[in-house]
Amino acid sequence: MQDLIELYRGLDRKDECILNAIFDNMWDFEYVPVHAIARECGMGEEKIELALKKLGGMRITENKYTEYLGASFTFKGLSVFSLKRLVNKNAISMLGNIMGEGKESVVYNAMSERYGEVVVKFHRVGYPSFKKVKEKRDYGSLHYTVLTVRSAKREYAALKKLYGYASVPQPVAWEGNAVVTRLIDAKELFRVKISNPEDVLDMILEEIRKMYSRGIVHGDLSQFNILVNSDGVWIIDFPQSVDTKDPMAQEYLERDVKNVLDYFERTYRLKKDLKEVMEYIKDEA
Ligand SMILES: Nc1ncnc2c1ncn2[C@@H]1O[C@H](COP(=O)(O)OP(=O)(O)OP(=O)(O)O)[C@@H](O)[C@H]1O
Ligand SMILES: [Mg+2]
Repeated sequence: MQDLIELYRGLDRKDECILNAIFDNMWDFEYVPVHAIARECGMGEEKIELALKKLGGMRITENKYTEYLGASFTFKGLSVFSLKRLVNKNAISMLGNIMGEGKESVVYNAMSERYGEVVVKFHRVGYPSFKKVKEKRDYGSLHYTVLTVRSAKREYAALKKLYGYASVPQPVAWEGNAVVTRLIDAKELFRVKISNPEDVLDMILEEIRKMYSRGIVHGDLSQFNILVNSDGVWIIDFPQSVDTKDPMAQEYLERDVKNVLDYFERTYRLKKDLKEVMEYIKDEA
C-alpha cells in the first residue's frame, strides 16, 4: 500500500474511465466484461484490453478470461480508485503516512483544505492475498469488492447518523472503500493508563446509551475502538454497526457492553452489574 500515490500518479484519463466503468458495473458482474467497459468509455475493445493489461500488471485490476475478458478491482485498485474520487471532489488534498494496517483496513493520515488533518480508512473485507487470488478462490456471486464497498458505506452512514448526537469522529466523505473522518488527537483506550477509570467508564456507557437512543448498536466495541484523551472519549470503527431494530442488535449490544465492563474489571478492578448497565443503556432503569 505504500505505493498508493505512485499508482495514482501512473493513471491517465483513459485508465480513470476504465476504473469508473468497473466500479459502475461491478454490482452486476464479478468480472466486468471488456465490451461493457468499452461501451461506457466510448473506446474500442482492443484499446481497453491493452489498458487492462497495464492495469493488471500494476495489480490495480485482476483480469480473467472466461467466455470474454473481464476485470475486477484488487484491494489496491479499489483504494486507488477511491482516492482519485476523493481528490477529484476536493475531500482531501494530500495523502500522508500509514497510521495502521489491520486485517480489514488500512488507515492513512491525510490533509483536507476544509477540515485540516483527517484520517482515510480504506476498507478491505474478504480480499484474499495475492497468492489466494491465484488459487482462484470463489467468493460466490458477491464479489469481495462489493462487500468492501458495502462495509465503507455502512460505516459512513452510521457516523453521519451519530455525529452531533454521540462522540464520534466527524465524517468528512465516503467514496468506494474509503471513509474520511476528522483526526482525533487521542489514543486507543487499551494503550493508556487512565487515572480516573470510573469517570471514563461512565462516559463510555453514556456514549453507548446515546448511540442506542439514536438507533445504532456498534457491534464491535472494545478497548481497541474507543479513543481517549483528557477531553473525553470517542467511539470509532463502525462497519459492523446495526440498527437497533436488527434481529442481532440486542445480542451485539450485550456483547459490546460486556467487552467494556470486562476490560475495566480486568484492568482497573472496577465492577458494574451487566444487567443494570443494560437497563440504563436501554433507558429501562
Ligand atoms: N478519526 C480518527 N482519529 C484518530 N485516529 C483514528 C481515527 N480513525 C481511526 N483512527 C486510528 O486508526 C485505527 C484503525 O481504525 P479503525 O478502528 O476504524 O479500523 P480497524 O478496521 O479496526 O483497523 P485495524 O484492523 O487496522 O485496527 C484506530 O485504532 C485509530 O488508532
Ligand atoms: Mg478498530
